[in-house]
Amino acid sequence: MRIVLGVTGCIAAYKSAVILRLLQEGGCEVLPVMTEHAKRFLGPLTLEKLSGNRVVDNLFRDSSTAIEHIALARSSDLLLVAPATANTLAKFAHGIGDDFLSTLYVSTVTPTVAAPAMNVEMWRHPATQSNLEVLRGRGVTVVEPEAGYLACGEVGEGRLAAPEVIVERALRILSRGKGLEGKRVLVTAGPTVEDIDPVRFLSNRSSGKMGYAIAAEAQTRGARVTLVSGPTHLNPPPGVELLAVRSAEEMAAAVGGRFDGSEIVIMAAAVGDFAPVHRSREKIKKNDGRLGTLRLRPVRDILMELGEKKRAGQFLVGFAAESSGLRRNALEKLRRKRLDLIVANDISRPDRGFASDYNQVLLLNPEGAEEKSPLLTKRRVAAFLWDRIQDRLAVRPVQVA
Ligand code: CTP
Repeated sequence: MRIVLGVTGCIAAYKSAVILRLLQEGGCEVLPVMTEHAKRFLGPLTLEKLSGNRVVDNLFRDSSTAIEHIALARSSDLLLVAPATANTLAKFAHGIGDDFLSTLYVSTVTPTVAAPAMNVEMWRHPATQSNLEVLRGRGVTVVEPEAGYLACGEVGEGRLAAPEVIVERALRILSRGKGLEGKRVLVTAGPTVEDIDPVRFLSNRSSGKMGYAIAAEAQTRGARVTLVSGPTHLNPPPGVELLAVRSAEEMAAAVGGRFDGSEIVIMAAAVGDFAPVHRSREKIKKNDGRLGTLRLRPVRDILMELGEKKRAGQFLVGFAAESSGLRRNALEKLRRKRLDLIVANDISRPDRGFASDYNQVLLLNPEGAEEKSPLLTKRRVAAFLWDRIQDRLAVRPVQVA
């Protein structure tokens, strides 16, 4: 997918670099376009180097015979303008084409998303609001700015929406018809934590990144997603319902409550296998003798229980974190837990898996078929996984050329 990222002249222009990166994470090629004013706030080289594409900023620079704004309008899938100033929105609303971006807008037939950013009074001004009404009426998606502290020192609406929110809206538009519309998806992520006393706990190194990426990808493909997450440092993907849990018992309860209403369940959480037999209400003192032995009990295997009560039509995916015997151990888990698919992770490699932004997975199904992904960012691994799940469910629409 090719996205034209239009950047206009305001202080939030620097955030376009983050937006560009997130779009790439979502699998898009980004074609940056900057207005003259935008270049006063952000050097074009930044977007050029990040995108690997020349920044288009001038209607007349190209000496070739191709009419560049028409060529770009025809060869892209979406126009995203972020940040969009009051001036650019006004030009769009009135069809004025006095620079590359505004001329591109009037020549484009692709969906358009605009994320305004401006001072609160400019935002509230009737001229801006009526321009936005015109654009909305024409089908432009407006990602509303947030209220907060503005660069001009005032407080109010006008601050550019969070890059994650803008990109999610853009990707969701691009993925319309991508096959998960209305599907109810349940994903678990992160570690579980078993408290020993009020300050000490047993846990593991899971960062939650893989599960969050799976939830975000399902959301952009149109699913209704619930994410049950152990403690992580991550922001929940926009639009996803988050149920925050701590212990394996809490995770089991949250998952159990949603399982019947879910069509696809992906257990990416690293559920701890053991919990202390006793949890002390008081902090255990170092010389009260109890620290000599920490007695543990096994915790419930949530996935195993789901496999036992799975009904026809539900699709169950598990993960296998293995430091050796990857294929053999993963296949054994697939069968024992009655899964439809297992995602095997080799955790002996420091450059992928736990806590890394990258992963490489081996997918195995009950018929014995297997497929290995390349080493990819976790968001792209999530896309790889969803492509395969959708193939298995045959819910992917016929691709229209
Ligand atoms: N899992 C679970 N409940 C547990 C332990 C694991 O639901 N108490 C799930 C995980 O979310 C994962 C799958 O089972 O999807 C496999 O987890 P993993 O830790 O690799 O395997 P275990 O079954 O715990 O076996 P072992 O630790 O012996 O490798």
